[in-house]
Amino acid sequence: MLLEVRDLHVEFHTRDGVARAVNGVSYGVDAGETLAVLGESGSGKSVTAQAVMGILDIPPGRITGGEVVFQGRDLLKLKEEERRRIRGAEMAMIFQDALSSLNPVISVGDQLGEMFTVHRGMSRKEARARAIELMDRVRIPAARERVKQYPHQFSGGMRQRIMIAMALSLEPALIIADEPTTALDVTVQAQVMELLAELQREYRMGLILITHDLGVVADVADRIAVMYAGRIVESAPVHDIYKAPAHPYTRGLLDSIPRLDQKGQELYAIKGLPPNLMNIPPGCAFHPRCPLARDVCRTDEPPLYEVSPTRGSACHFWRECLDD
Ligand SMILES: Nc1ncnc2c1ncn2[C@@H]1O[C@H](COP(=O)(O)OP(=O)(O)OP(=O)(O)O)[C@@H](O)[C@H]1O
Ligand code: SF4
Ligand SMILES: [Mg+2]
Repeated sequence: MLLEVRDLHVEFHTRDGVARAVNGVSYGVDAGETLAVLGESGSGKSVTAQAVMGILDIPPGRITGGEVVFQGRDLLKLKEEERRRIRGAEMAMIFQDALSSLNPVISVGDQLGEMFTVHRGMSRKEARARAIELMDRVRIPAARERVKQYPHQFSGGMRQRIMIAMALSLEPALIIADEPTTALDVTVQAQVMELLAELQREYRMGLILITHDLGVVADVADRIAVMYAGRIVESAPVHDIYKAPAHPYTRGLLDSIPRLDQKGQELYAIKGLPPNLMNIPPGCAFHPRCPLARDVCRTDEPPLYEVSPTRGSACHFWRECLDD
């Protein structure tokens, strides 16, 4: 495994109390593989990714347990200096909002070039040539002219391509993309996602793709991890999940995807709201919203049951859900 997160726990200590944002997450991704991480807002997708990258806000955040094993080393045991070197060079992150991730007063070419001057010791001229190459690579038209322009002179989709170019620049083994296309128009979303998937295959990188959008996942992901209240509730190869979910929450997410053949029909929504992380319900955290819930769900927390050698579900009644 390229990356293996094991039993990760993260809390946030705030004036109002302790928010238990990540409660024993384990997931992994191999070279050349794409893991999609799904779940509603607040389920802990980004916080888990931030802990992996080493960019968590500490304080108020605190990692209270677990391991992040990357290329054989537990990153949580390394010094900040060593982590900084790994970040960028060996793992990189792409965020939703390119405009706030790019420096507005430095040209795009200089920002891309800096990756090569700082990390690879290249001259400015060499770095400029590499920046143009990368802009070509992510299919920004007229790269040679546009390399001198500033971030605000690019459209949202083009800026996101620049972010992808930055992430790719040092050819990292792992990329984490946190909602990389959420801020874009639907048609542009598809183009950017296709580009990312293509480059991931070509460079044989591991990719963790965090998204709300189950629609895009089917085409690009190998595996899916579904998060709820800071836990993985289902983890499986993508085709297994689309065939039949083994957790009622996954089913709820799938049923809320708009489908072309059901135009005009009202969209299903999972009833209720995600829990308050300062006060997570006992037993199965999903029980207040679950159509299959019964007494045991209110008291006994489900472990991640083995559904198959490659699949797990944290539901006492996963068999029932699968047969449904
Ligand atoms: N800087 C912070 N300070 C305090 N609490 C935080 C902080 N960052 C995250 N949290 C807590 O962790 C929870 C999980 O946040 P996270 O950003 O991982 O959610 P997410 O699954 O990425 O949601 P979204 O889909 O909205 O991006 C939040 O609901 C919040 O309670
Ligand atoms: S354990 Fe119970 S409440 Fe939780 S998802 Fe399964 S059936 Fe629903
Ligand atoms: Mg997030």
